[in-house]
Amino acid sequence: MTTDSLSNLMDERRTFAPESGFAAAANVDAGWYAAADADREGFWAAQARRLSWASEWSNVLDWSDAPVAKWFVGGKLNVAYNCVDRHVEAGHGDRVAIQWEGESGDARAITYADLRREVSKTANALASLGLRAGDRVAIQLPMIPEAIFAMLACARLGLVHSVVFGGFSPTALRSRVDDAQARLLITSDGQFRRGKAAPMKANTDEAVADCASIEHVLVVRRTGSTVEWTEGRDLWWHDLVDGQSDTHEPEAFDAEHPLFILYTSGTTGNPKGILHTSGGYLTQVAYTHHAVFDLKPESDVYWCTADIGWVTGHSYIVYGPLANGATQVVYEGTPDSPHQGRHFEIIQKYGVTIYYTAPTLIRTFMKWGDEIPAGYDLSSLRLLGSVGEPINPEAWIWYRKHIGGDRCPIVDTWWQTETGAIMISPLPGVTSTKPGSAQRPLPGIGARVVDDAGVEVGPGGGGYLVLDKPWPSMLRGIWGDEERFRETYWSRFADEGFYFAGDGAKYDADGDIWLLGRVDDVMNVSGHRISTTEVESALVSHPSVAEAAVVGAADPTTGQGIVAFVILRGGQDASVVGVLRDHVAKEIGPIAKPRQVLVVPELPKTRSGKIMRRLLRDIAENRAVGDTTTLADSSVMALISSGLNTAS
Ligand code: WTA
Repeated sequence: MTTDSLSNLMDERRTFAPESGFAAAANVDAGWYAAADADREGFWAAQARRLSWASEWSNVLDWSDAPVAKWFVGGKLNVAYNCVDRHVEAGHGDRVAIQWEGESGDARAITYADLRREVSKTANALASLGLRAGDRVAIQLPMIPEAIFAMLACARLGLVHSVVFGGFSPTALRSRVDDAQARLLITSDGQFRRGKAAPMKANTDEAVADCASIEHVLVVRRTGSTVEWTEGRDLWWHDLVDGQSDTHEPEAFDAEHPLFILYTSGTTGNPKGILHTSGGYLTQVAYTHHAVFDLKPESDVYWCTADIGWVTGHSYIVYGPLANGATQVVYEGTPDSPHQGRHFEIIQKYGVTIYYTAPTLIRTFMKWGDEIPAGYDLSSLRLLGSVGEPINPEAWIWYRKHIGGDRCPIVDTWWQTETGAIMISPLPGVTSTKPGSAQRPLPGIGARVVDDAGVEVGPGGGGYLVLDKPWPSMLRGIWGDEERFRETYWSRFADEGFYFAGDGAKYDADGDIWLLGRVDDVMNVSGHRISTTEVESALVSHPSVAEAAVVGAADPTTGQGIVAFVILRGGQDASVVGVLRDHVAKEIGPIAKPRQVLVVPELPKTRSGKIMRRLLRDIAENRAVGDTTTLADSSVMALISSGLNTAS
């Protein structure tokens, strides 16, 4: 974040007390903090009882093998049964689980009884392929109901899913499939994007062409476009799934049985396969969805606008809401298709009461204009959520006023792929909210802001955000790389035993937490985590590039934008810039396409050869260049700047 927006954050002084009617009916009250502090394990045991267990655990937490936790030791449950069947058994089979809205306006209402039939058929289909508990299944699908059926069918069979965002390139998909050694890939012929059918299977074909572990590719027909077909490997979803029996007996698995792997960017090397397990994960997503969103399953219509390719889609579209028996909207398309009022039209159409989205979209709505939401009836809304990056106070206030009608509480939820569920957030009806602050760890969660030495800073002080107590939905490791797991999260404050989140944070005078962005080389672009090294390796894989350095520069809409500095090989000139931007999009995916590629003669390096990204960020953000005394050659910055001036 820029210094400007930081000081703006810290100068924010407005607070919004909970409205009394909301507080009186809220799912939680202030007493939850004290109750959880008094008996943490007892508190989490009570949260676990939100779920149906086939057999009870013997102890709540085993931390003897830290940092690998075991929660609800010896307990057994089936995650899909908890998200589907038990609601039907409780008499809610006719309740709509998923109100699906296609981009072009085709709609499908799926009740919990329908969901049980669809998930059972899908589970029978996957079992017929010989897949067994513990096997990995890769899923790259658009936001269609089959994506949710597939995830839940995996959970039902104890298969470990690895969902890969639809925008990732074949190369990115291949490395994830290989790393997890997936036996099956589930994909679709194509996907609708801004009114057009874009290919999907063509990409997945390229990705798995030489993945030895893949035995079958299961293909959902969505766009009806022509696809290449590999006999013996490829199977149509409608051929395999539709004819299966619509009943399936769920088996109970151990609380620590792996549920999914989700890849996320780290500071170095390949993306990390974050591993989540069953009982603790489901407990915390169900609890947080109940407490933070104040869900009333009988009357609420909930909508989380994330994609299932990200953790928010896993925890707050699939597992949390369905475990709680929610009715939710799932939307296939982009927010501006076919027009910029699409989200507001959907809120009005379905009477959405809870809306959970990302700051980048809120800022986009601000840019499109206040008159667009004003043209719709948004009076059904009663709670708003934000996730993915720090929300600047201007966007928060706009969200409250123009979407929330100045009445809806806003929950700014801080968490990560690794934490699995929300960790820091206001509680609606309890907390007086402050625009831009995620405020306090939830009841049962321990978080603090510490200095370099691991000592907690005082009110007004800043430093690193750490999590000081294990939590049920914590990651259980990085797939296939235990050393990297310890090194990445647990070595920075090893003596204290803290989990290092990688985020900077600050306390205000009241002790509320303000998140200040990443402190490592991970960028946050439209709420998506992308590492600088990933983009740098994509750039140097192009024959024109000799060397590359990438920084995240403040961007008014996307939070950060990717700015790349490249040194070209001899004989190349700046006309190659467009080619390089496309090359990165092809290597990683369109979300990683640099906003700018600047051709430079040199890169600023320390004597030990480390690139000083801080100085490059100064250039990218049009600031005076900071302290250059540690540069090996202090004239480099002048050389870079003068070259850029003549180029522009
Ligand atoms: C950032 C997304 C400030 C943070 C759920 C974190 C936030 C990273 C917030 C995780 C928030 C997420 N305020 N920053 N409310 N929510 N972040 O793994 O830097 O995609 O470390 O998980 O997003 O991103 P991830």
